[in-house]
Order: sequence, then C-alpha cells, then structure tokens
Amino acid sequence: MDVQRSPALPADFVWGAATAAYQIEGAVDEDGRGESIWDRFCTVPGAVRGGDSGAVACDFYHRHSEDVALMRELGLDAFRFSVAWPRVLPEGRGRVEPRGLDFYDRLVDELLEAGIRPFVTLYHWDLPQALEDAGGWPARATAEAFARYVEVVAERLGDRVRHWTTHNEPFCTSWLGYGYGIHAPGRRAVADALAAAHHALLSHGWAVESLRRASPGSEVGIALDSWPVLPAGDAPEDVEAARLEDGVASRWFFDPVLRGSYPEDVLERFAPAAPPVLDGDLAAIAAPLDFIGVNNYSRRFVRAAPDGGAPIGVRVASGRLTDMGWEVHPGSLAAVLTRLHEEYAVPALYVTENGAAFADVRGHDGRVHDLERVEYLRDYVAAVGETVAAGVPVRGYFVWSLLDNFEWSYGYSKRFGLVYVDYPTLERVRKDSFAWYRRAIAGSRRAAASAVQP
Ligand code: FCB
Repeated sequence: MDVQRSPALPADFVWGAATAAYQIEGAVDEDGRGESIWDRFCTVPGAVRGGDSGAVACDFYHRHSEDVALMRELGLDAFRFSVAWPRVLPEGRGRVEPRGLDFYDRLVDELLEAGIRPFVTLYHWDLPQALEDAGGWPARATAEAFARYVEVVAERLGDRVRHWTTHNEPFCTSWLGYGYGIHAPGRRAVADALAAAHHALLSHGWAVESLRRASPGSEVGIALDSWPVLPAGDAPEDVEAARLEDGVASRWFFDPVLRGSYPEDVLERFAPAAPPVLDGDLAAIAAPLDFIGVNNYSRRFVRAAPDGGAPIGVRVASGRLTDMGWEVHPGSLAAVLTRLHEEYAVPALYVTENGAAFADVRGHDGRVHDLERVEYLRDYVAAVGETVAAGVPVRGYFVWSLLDNFEWSYGYSKRFGLVYVDYPTLERVRKDSFAWYRRAIAGSRRAAASAVQP
C-alpha cells in the first residue's frame, strides 16, 4: 500500500499525535488531584457506557516514559496533551498543588529530551468539580478562574512550551455538557449552553493575554471542532436548516474568535435566550492568534424539522462508516481547512485531531491488523497534502489518538489509538497503523529532503 500519495509536504511540517488528560492519565486520586466534573459524571448511572470511568484509563500518569518511547519510535515531531486543571488547582482556584505541576514539568522535559515538541492544551473538558458546584461554565467567575490557572501553568512551563491551545472544542464543552447533557456535567438548558460557550470563549481570550505575558514568543491558538453540515435534500428549508446548524456548531465559534462578533442569524434563532455579553468581551475573545487548530473527523447531513425546531440529523451511508458511525470523508477535512483560510484569513492551521475508531481485535498472532484505520489515515493525510499544495497554510497534523483511551460517554468501547491498550493488563500493542504512520512520517521527510535538493 502506498505510504505517501499526496504531494510532498514541507520539511518543517509537524507530525504529531493527540491525547487528553482525562482520557489517558488515570491516577485520579493521586498527588493531591482534585475531583473533576468527569469523575463525578462517571458515577451517574447510565451516563457512561458500561459504567466506565477515567480512574485508571491508560495509566499514562505512571507509564508516560514507556509512551514517550513509543512516540520516539514513531518519529513524532510533536505530542498534543492536555493539562488537568484539577491536578494543578484542586479546587479550581486558590491553592496550587505543586505535585500536579511537577508531573507536567517532567513530562515536558522528557518530551524535549526525546526531540518531541509539547503542544499543550489547557482545557480538554475536565473542569474542577468545585467550580461546577459554584456554577460551572455558565458562571463568569469560571472564566476568571481559568485565566488565573493558565497563568500558573504558563509561569511554570512557559519557558519550554512553544505551542499552546487554550480550549479544546468549546462547542462540546458548552452544548454537549450544558445543552444536551451527554457530557459532564450533564446539564440540559439552552441558556446554560449559550452562557457556557460565551464564558469558555471569554476565558480563551483572557488566557491568550496570560500566555503572551508568561510564555513570550510562543504560538497560541484554540482547537475548534468543525464538520461540514450539508442539507439532506434540495428543499430550500433543508438548505436553510444546514446553514443554521453550521451557524450553531461552527460560525458561533469561528466568528467571535476570528471576527469579534456572534453571527446575527444564530442570535436571532436563539432569541430571547442570548449569551451574557458585557462591554469589552468580544474584543477580548478576538485576541489575535497564531493558529487555529482544526478537529475534524467527518461531515453531517440535516433536514428541517417539520415544526420549525432544531434541524434533524440524518444518516447517510454513501461512504464507509467508522465504529462511531461517522462517514469516512477526507474531503470534509480539506473543506474546513480551506474555509478557515479563505473566509477567515487564518494565518496558520494545524489539524489538531483527526482519526478513526474501529472495532480492533488482537488476532491469533497477538497483533492488531487495523487495515481500515490505515486506509482512513492514508486518505485523510493525502487530503491534507492536497490542501497544502493548494496554498492553505496547514502546518501540522495530529492523529487522534496515540493510544486507545477513555472515549467520554462511550467509555472504553471505542478504540482510536495507533497503539492498542489491553485494559486488563495495560499492555501497549502497536497496531499496523502505528507502523504505517511511522513509514508515512519518514517518507514525508525523505520526500521533503529530496525536493529541496538541486
Ligand atoms: C473529539 C475530542 C477527543 C476525542 C475525539 C474522538 O471531539 O476532542 O477528546 O474524544 O473527539
């Protein structure tokens, strides 16, 4: 099978893999870590498949050296991980837990020693439970606490970390957590979702300021999830439904971050509910950034609801589906990257997440032959290559994920890793996609080197 089908990517293109603290670390009661909303949510009957939780996860907290060795073997340029706020400030504000900071300090050093750049995400959904008890993201005080937390982390790691992502997917933080109740903390109110989104965005803007101060010269961005939304048919009401749904999921975040305004049509749709915007908020949210991180896996189809309510998601089976039921459609990733470049003039982009869950099994030879994932990654990486060749400034690509891990409300039932994790023993098993990615990275470097030779 072809390793490299796309045009040559530049020599400085960043090849990475991504993870998040709650999904891999485990050790939830160790070294003074405070409770997070995910620890609490996992105890709610029926909230997470099989009653799973991140209590042990991949035990990355103890096994990170073994995992850094795997990254090195892959030839990664960069590793994207998140800092768990409740490890650093167990109550969300106030008392700093030095052992929490020490953990990330050691991890950063270990990565740098292995020649791997740390790409640090500051919020990947594990809000300290104490802050949720005081109102959570719908409360403005949570944004203030976040800015302070970011300062604490940046003061410690800011001399070595050169790439920061403030938030991961504020759409999921707000809508899945506070609107639909399918993620922690499991609340269900439109007004809460709108307030949560606004405060997450505001905290992003304030965090940019903290990072510029405490980690001068570093690159700062945010990771936004965006899936193209298409109408299920040609009816004008379906076309309109798709436009609005794109407004809720993508423009609601792109516009304030990149233009300093919320989209009018979506504001109208939610009226009389509205985000709690104070003077100066939108200017803070639109703080200039060095890059936008794009998390994309697929696309969605919708049709209009007969009662004029929220658009209805429709399943189409035109392409292959992953184990999440998501259509394999590399052109969608290219479309999102191109849109951000053309419509929003984003200076630089990283694909901060892309990958696929498949129902991997260890065969009789003890190995995991995940051909479908290899094909998925090959085709998506090719799409990124074509996008770069077309002039879109994509600087790097991070596979979701290095390891199989805790997939939120799906628990351990969905495997996204290049490395299979045998949960009872925590043994790591390299999948065939691991070998493929290693060859793809090496091949890309060789191609780039020969392209610059006379
Ligand atoms: C994204 C999340 C990430 C992971 C992937 C599959 O929405 O950021 O943590 O769960 O989906």
